[in-house]
Amino acid sequence: MDVVTNALKGEGIALSFGGIEVLKGLDVEFRAGEITGLIGPNGAGKTSLFNCLTGAYAPQKGTITYAGQSLDGLPPAARASRGIVRSFQHVALSPDLTVLENVMIGVARNHHAGWQHVFLPTRRGREEMARMRADAEQALAELGLAGAADKLPAELPPGMLRLVEIARAIVGRPQVLLLDEPAAGLNNAETRDLMRSLKSLCSPDLVMVVVEHDMDLVMSICDRIYVLNFGAFVACGTPQQVRQDEDVVRIYLGSDDD
Ligand SMILES: Nc1ncnc2c1ncn2[C@@H]1O[C@H](COP(=O)(O)OP(=O)(O)OP(=O)(O)O)[C@@H](O)[C@H]1O
Ligand SMILES: [Mg+2]
Repeated sequence: MDVVTNALKGEGIALSFGGIEVLKGLDVEFRAGEITGLIGPNGAGKTSLFNCLTGAYAPQKGTITYAGQSLDGLPPAARASRGIVRSFQHVALSPDLTVLENVMIGVARNHHAGWQHVFLPTRRGREEMARMRADAEQALAELGLAGAADKLPAELPPGMLRLVEIARAIVGRPQVLLLDEPAAGLNNAETRDLMRSLKSLCSPDLVMVVVEHDMDLVMSICDRIYVLNFGAFVACGTPQQVRQDEDVVRIYLGSDDD
């Protein structure tokens, strides 16, 4: 008997803007316990697929399920409360909040039970605030950012800001973590640290999907990789299989785009 895993699945996902087909009926399965890579040239539709999965875009056709439950029609907040969380291609931190406070927002956004009480001047409110703070501190520590907790975003280099964004995504202990170009702007050492951190976040219950142009990162941390080109998948397989796929070599890895 198959072991049931909490996969995030899309069937026949089709998305167009003004008659231009951006996603052409995609079938996809992102499995728990794996890191799945989603690669493809600029404009292939990677971020658009993430937007469909999180509910930011409503595909014209197709259906999306998580752990067998349909997500169709659910707004982004409802999906976040089911543990489906993403980081953005472009860092979007609040400039007036400290790093720690920015990450604490992630706790609330991911609907940590009881977070509403932090606004009340009660013992419960103080306890929830302390818990949110502790969770945020732990998420920062997991990404090697403990020392940056009290800084403002403007005081940090771009690479660190991206890690803060990831800390904000993981702080609510998501079930599904969608990372859009997490290594963009990171130097080699930061990218290596990120790879280690992402590997260590892996757990049997977590679906992790990484959109990334950094091939070393994708090939070394992903269990499976989907290759998207002009809104259609051209390959899916292990890093080894994808690396040897002729279409992939021709349309993506062989291009000097990235
Ligand atoms: N809101 C929108 N309105 C119109 N067109 C859009 C919209 N969002 C995405 N597109 C188009 O969809 C296509 C895919 O874009 P998308 O951002 O998903 O690509 P991507 O694979 O993430 O590219 P990159 O690697 O550059 O981030 C592009 O042609 C883009 O212009
Ligand atoms: Mg993108």
